[in-house]
Amino acid sequence: MKIEPAASLDGHFAVPGDKSITHRALLLGAVSDGDTVIRGWGRSADTESTLAAVRALGAEVGEGGDQLTVQGVGLRGLRPAEIDCGNAGTLARLLPGLLAFQEGTFTLTGDESLSARPMERVAEPLRRMGAHIETTGGRLPLVISGGPLVAIDYELPVASAQVKSAVLLAGLGATGRTTVIEPAPTRDHTELMLRAAGVSVSSRPSSVSIDPPESIHLGSVDIPGDFSSAAPFIVAATLVPESRITIHDVNLNPRRTGLLQVLDRMGGRVGIVARRRLGVEQVGDIEVRAAEQLTATKITSHEVPALVDELPLFGLLAACARGESWVYGAGELRHKETDRIEALVDALRAIGVRAKAHDEGFSVVGVPTRPRGGRIASRGDHRIAMLGAVAGLVSREGVTIEDSECVAVSFPGFFDLLDQLAQRTGNLV
Ligand code: S3P
Repeated sequence: MKIEPAASLDGHFAVPGDKSITHRALLLGAVSDGDTVIRGWGRSADTESTLAAVRALGAEVGEGGDQLTVQGVGLRGLRPAEIDCGNAGTLARLLPGLLAFQEGTFTLTGDESLSARPMERVAEPLRRMGAHIETTGGRLPLVISGGPLVAIDYELPVASAQVKSAVLLAGLGATGRTTVIEPAPTRDHTELMLRAAGVSVSSRPSSVSIDPPESIHLGSVDIPGDFSSAAPFIVAATLVPESRITIHDVNLNPRRTGLLQVLDRMGGRVGIVARRRLGVEQVGDIEVRAAEQLTATKITSHEVPALVDELPLFGLLAACARGESWVYGAGELRHKETDRIEALVDALRAIGVRAKAHDEGFSVVGVPTRPRGGRIASRGDHRIAMLGAVAGLVSREGVTIEDSECVAVSFPGFFDLLDQLAQRTGNLV
């Protein structure tokens, strides 16, 4: 698919429901007592995998419009099954936590990309709690035989919300208080939702503890728009001159919105209006105007988790900023849907940008003009395909994206929305 340059981006719109929160609502809904109504879920290939998983595990789910109703089977009521996680890393990492204390044996598989991703990071702490988990050379397929668990204090070796969540979910079925200590703040959707479901959760700046409940009851969850799906449009509107967009009802969990702080110090023009709460999450409308001029910046390892999925897009911002930008302590990017450090650096180079991969991050020499354009290989990674699309709008000559259909992993309507917003007539220089 080729994305042509845009003269501006213009419009008011919403993006699909948050993927991370949807996965969690389905999983916790499945082990709740009673029904859970999930409103505004983000339907995508990844969340469909979780929907299919909870059904296979015995929870009935009714669908109507953008609403799901999950009939919970209770905390220990999941039935043995073989689960295909598809491309969904969050499902593959969180589900073992819940399965570790169920009765019976469960097998988790995934697609080629997910089957290459590390699973020991989850298996290892769960084994410490007493779980029986076998990985296949540290990866999927995973075989879990449920049994009694004991709580642990676990210090995460890497800042990962997925690993933190797996341990907390296992803590629901363990005896004693489970504590997870994190090296940098990662998204806290799991702990917020657990609290909403009646679990006793103590959150401190760098750790979180839960006490095992008798049962949980979620009741209902309203899913706000996914900040990570809003991010491509925030970056495009920042970089394409004359742009002005408003994205409504976006999740503004501060542990997800690191891109906004980074943009602020680079000289971006982003405002938040109508900030409010939606259940346990913060939401608001994001207004973006094209930046006059961006300045290079450095992103530290402490900041990385709050924009981990937006770092490819940061690479494009850096490409158009004055000066050299750096990202440090982002080695985790090498374990995403693809090695995102290599994928994003190759993508930026392919459109004429000076970018360099480092072991634990990358650097970009910015030039405050439109990049040339060219051909970007998505490597089947949705976030790299979206980077290619935004690069196309921002470029002088357009960008051809290989394997663009992988955007459906998180955002099936992405290209249609992009097309509606992009104004093609006007000054392209
Ligand atoms: C996610 C956590 C992050 C993120 C992923 C979703 C989650 O992964 O990259 O897209 O929903 O918990 P890590 O926790 O492995 O960094």
